[in-house]
Amino acid sequence: MKTLGIDIGGSAIKGAPVDTTTGKLLAERHRIEVRKHLTPAAAAKVVAEIAAHFRWRGRIGVGFPGVIEKSTIRTSANLHPRFVRCDGAKLFGQATGCRVAMINDAAAAGIAEMRFGAGRRFMGKALLLTLGTGVGTCLAYQGVVAPLEFGHFPWKGGRDAEKFVSSAARENEDLSWEEWGGRLHEFIAELERLFWPELIILGGGASAKHERFFPCIRTRARLVPAKFFNQAGIVGAALWAVEAK
Ligand code: BGC
Repeated sequence: MKTLGIDIGGSAIKGAPVDTTTGKLLAERHRIEVRKHLTPAAAAKVVAEIAAHFRWRGRIGVGFPGVIEKSTIRTSANLHPRFVRCDGAKLFGQATGCRVAMINDAAAAGIAEMRFGAGRRFMGKALLLTLGTGVGTCLAYQGVVAPLEFGHFPWKGGRDAEKFVSSAARENEDLSWEEWGGRLHEFIAELERLFWPELIILGGGASAKHERFFPCIRTRARLVPAKFFNQAGIVGAALWAVEAK
């Protein structure tokens, strides 16, 4: 089965058709850069452009960086506030003429990694973090993925943890890999104390350079980079389009 996976991010929207039986991309992903604080209407246009690029007619899964209930977007920490209360399936469905399933972006990444990536065949408790504009989190247990919002954990004086440990924080504050790795170590140590995962998967763009900062992170759990790096969101959203109930 083939579905189109789309990943909505703070700086770009990306998509590719995916073979949902193998998790493989069936074509090179199409990436469109977007400006900060893109409105829902503008995002719908970009999603339609990606669907048109692949002449897509089938199902689409869309990963969004916020809390999703059924297909309603509940939070939008790093995108336009007008997304809040939007029905994503309707918004992107009308723009593309296709059936759309919505999922949190980190949960999408978690599904991809647990099914075909770094968590394949792992049935214990796994914690996945995606490091990007924000910090996405999900837990998997017995292969079942649940979206979480640990990126908003109150940290250092009450600000959201993602303001300190995201890739965006590393870039904006011009942190060295060691400084950033040290911050990640502290944050992950706290998550370990509370959730006791056996496996921790780190994803997002920076995971491609994991050897630069993994030595700074000491964990009880096994720590591994995401196999799909920052493509997990596309693959997982595509899987969700066939699995969503
Ligand atoms: C959002 C999460 C999202 C994460 C990564 C956070 O700011 O609240 O829902 O998964 O960023 O994009």
